[in-house]
Amino acid sequence: MNTSDPEPINSNITSGENLSYWIASSEPIIFAKVVKSLETDVLVVGGGIAGLTTAYCLTQAGRKVILVEDGFIGSGESGRTTAHVTCALDDRYFELEKIFGKDKAGLAANSHMAAIEWINKTVRLEKIECNFKRVDGYLFLHPSDTKETLDKEYEATKQVGLLTQMLPEVPSIAAENGWCIKFPDQAQFHIMLYLKGLADAIVRMGGNIYTQSKARDINNNGAKVNGYDVVAKHVVVATNTPVNDVLTMHTKQWPYRTYVIGAKILKGQLPYSLWWDTGDHNSKWISQPYHYVRLEEFNEQYDLLISGGEDHKTGQADDENIPEEDRYGRLIEWTKKRFPAIEQIVYKWSGQVMEPIDSMAFIGKNPGNDNIYIITGDSGNGMTHGTLGGMILSDIISGKDNPWIDLYSPSRITLKTADDYIHEVGNMTAQLVDWISKGDIKEAAELKPGEGGIISSGLKKIAVYRDDQNCLHSHTAVCPHLGGILQWNNDEKSFDCPLHGSRFTTDGKVINGPAKGDLKKVDIHEEA
Ligand SMILES: Cc1cc2nc3c(=O)[nH]c(=O)nc-3n(C[C@H](O)[C@H](O)[C@H](O)COP(=O)(O)OP(=O)(O)OC[C@H]3O[C@@H](n4cnc5c(N)ncnc54)[C@H](O)[C@@H]3O)c2cc1C
Ligand code: FES
Repeated sequence: MNTSDPEPINSNITSGENLSYWIASSEPIIFAKVVKSLETDVLVVGGGIAGLTTAYCLTQAGRKVILVEDGFIGSGESGRTTAHVTCALDDRYFELEKIFGKDKAGLAANSHMAAIEWINKTVRLEKIECNFKRVDGYLFLHPSDTKETLDKEYEATKQVGLLTQMLPEVPSIAAENGWCIKFPDQAQFHIMLYLKGLADAIVRMGGNIYTQSKARDINNNGAKVNGYDVVAKHVVVATNTPVNDVLTMHTKQWPYRTYVIGAKILKGQLPYSLWWDTGDHNSKWISQPYHYVRLEEFNEQYDLLISGGEDHKTGQADDENIPEEDRYGRLIEWTKKRFPAIEQIVYKWSGQVMEPIDSMAFIGKNPGNDNIYIITGDSGNGMTHGTLGGMILSDIISGKDNPWIDLYSPSRITLKTADDYIHEVGNMTAQLVDWISKGDIKEAAELKPGEGGIISSGLKKIAVYRDDQNCLHSHTAVCPHLGGILQWNNDEKSFDCPLHGSRFTTDGKVINGPAKGDLKKVDIHEEA
């Protein structure tokens, strides 16, 4: 039953101001909006790789599926990815072995290889034209790291059954003359073309997809979508960060912002491959940010070299005195040194990744619920984790066995990560100092059109933005999730929460959870 008017539709096509190459080079993937009450077997919330893969697997298994997405397909982090499809996890296998033991580390390796194969098979079966390629990947040393890391990782990859090789130099990189581990038979694709192929297949098999359709009040019986009841026997929350979380998941994963540039490079200068360094061991961040690079077809003359890195915890860029927009300059410098053949930089964008406490994604029943499921904690491996999410949840819902259910269970308890946990909780507690610190601007008059900031007024914190027409938009700067003080992100023009990564538009609309609601408006008066 419609209990209220349909909600105003957020017309954002992506979760920030900068457009990724994938979004800029493809048509928006749009379906009808939910405009009446509906009933289904499975409701999937979220139209990124995790939600679409889940909807695809379940529709293929004969289930009646409705997928709802509050933006357009791929308008979350999937549209901002770099789409390395790989089993070279960004947390090392020797670390997984320490935390979970050899057998489970082996299961993890096997699951990611299976996800790559699943994508390969599906691209062929559904004839998805998405520039899918099998490519090799190379893991090389960050200058702050030592060869011991590669030796340990090489040994661990062998133990888990991967066909890796240790090479004495890194193929195709100018300034890195050290050893590297080759991961053969990885993959890459154009994510938006892939998602379009999955969406078309879902609809062809009888599934229903709705865009500009926001789910709220997710519960055991379904959810409210655009104000209408969607009744379902099972609900899959594939919103990257769960938006149904009350107590648990935001204490098990941490949000990081990561940056990407796209540079033209003449075709033939580099082979299609994936490259990653082992991460900055001197970084203040637990995740030890690393660089990740690949090629994509651009036009007849050029490829696009897509290079990423320079991460920081969401809303905390200034803690390193490197504001968000300055991160691209560092990335360009790093990339030019290693790939001197690049020419014009034609794209730049950033996105958010969720780093799980024990390096493994969370896929399965939401703790405390029997028919609500989540897919989250992807880290930088969301292409395979999102795909695994679909494969695993489809088996759970269909009552089938699956070898990875326990490994990825959101209810698992991992004891060997206590140090990282204490460090990250300490970081969160430190953010509460923002309650008593000054805002980053004194008054709204300091803002030029297109700028935002946080004003302190007594104990109140106000998030203020001046739009291009010189109008001020002011909202509370207190995050509706658990009260973090928002920070202005001048690069993506958003207000970001340094506690658990909720993000809001300049109009106060929530873009990333775990916050469920928008920011409340606050009136401030400017002298004429
Ligand atoms: C810059 C960058 C580079 C990356 N590179 C790689 C890489 O090379 N390889 C790799 O494997 N991974 C990579 N990742 C990680 C990967 O892209 C993500 O983990 C993955 O795309 C997440 O997919 P998802 O479907 O879980 O989430 P999303 O793609 O974010 O999809 C969630 C969707 O849910 C929608 N939504 C949210 N709330 C609601 C609601 N209430 N109602 C309806 N819809 C809602 C959102 O609009 C969104 O579209 C990268 C990430 C970034 C940011
Ligand atoms: S996201 Fe939890 S307090 Fe803001």
